[in-house]
Amino acid sequence: MDRVAPTTAAAMADHWNSRAWRFDGAASHRRDADAWRTVFNAALGGAPLDVLDLGCGTGACALLAGSLGHRVTAVDGSAEMLAHAKAAATEANLSIEFINATMDEAALPTASAEIVTLRNVLWTLENPSAALTLARKLLRPGGILLVSDGLWFRHRVNNSRDVFGAHLPFYNGVPEDDARGLLAGAGFSAVESWRDLIPGNLYGAAYDDPEKPIAFFILTAISPE
Ligand SMILES: C[S@@+](CC[C@H](N)C(=O)[O-])C[C@H]1O[C@@H](n2cnc3c(N)ncnc32)[C@H](O)[C@@H]1O
Repeated sequence: MDRVAPTTAAAMADHWNSRAWRFDGAASHRRDADAWRTVFNAALGGAPLDVLDLGCGTGACALLAGSLGHRVTAVDGSAEMLAHAKAAATEANLSIEFINATMDEAALPTASAEIVTLRNVLWTLENPSAALTLARKLLRPGGILLVSDGLWFRHRVNNSRDVFGAHLPFYNGVPEDDARGLLAGAGFSAVESWRDLIPGNLYGAAYDDPEKPIAFFILTAISPE
């Protein structure tokens, strides 16, 4: 199987380690849990299910799934992001298994999850299609993948382009049509959009253009039987 981040994993972990302290204050991370609870309730089915959150960051999706009664495992390559997630889970009295590893390194059992979530992670990956192939492998047949991402930048101007950006096919963000193509390519079907459940402009303006709202998508798809 192709690797998700063959050359950028260490730089990516450094990047998120340095941003962890301010991540939760940014739009929608843990802040907009109520809006995302509506989506999770509608899109993921009744608890308790085995949920795997890939690239969990500070734990927004993992905590939400846990609070809905799911059994949650959450993986991230950044120790600092995970430290925030662990502290939040402790504070919320939620039992979540956190794994500090990249998706390529985490020893996750095949066909062990009923739900995989990948929120705002595809854009950070060198090989997003490999992440969807991995998700398919980790899901039980008929399991649900929830994938969400947005069009974050138009002309990013910091050093991350030099450090890893040039290696990322969706460095400026993931268009919904591309995500749908990736899902089909990885063998997922029954793609459904849940975007309408979050009206308005959840993420505010594009980071480099105050006039331009960030477009985003929320899709689920079913893994093959
Ligand atoms: C933009 S944050 C999104 C965090 C979270 N999913 C959310 O919605 O708030 C991207 C996260 O993906 C993680 N990540 C990126 N590449 C990864 C990889 N190859 N393996 C594991 N985690 C990765 C980063 O460390 C970071 O915490």
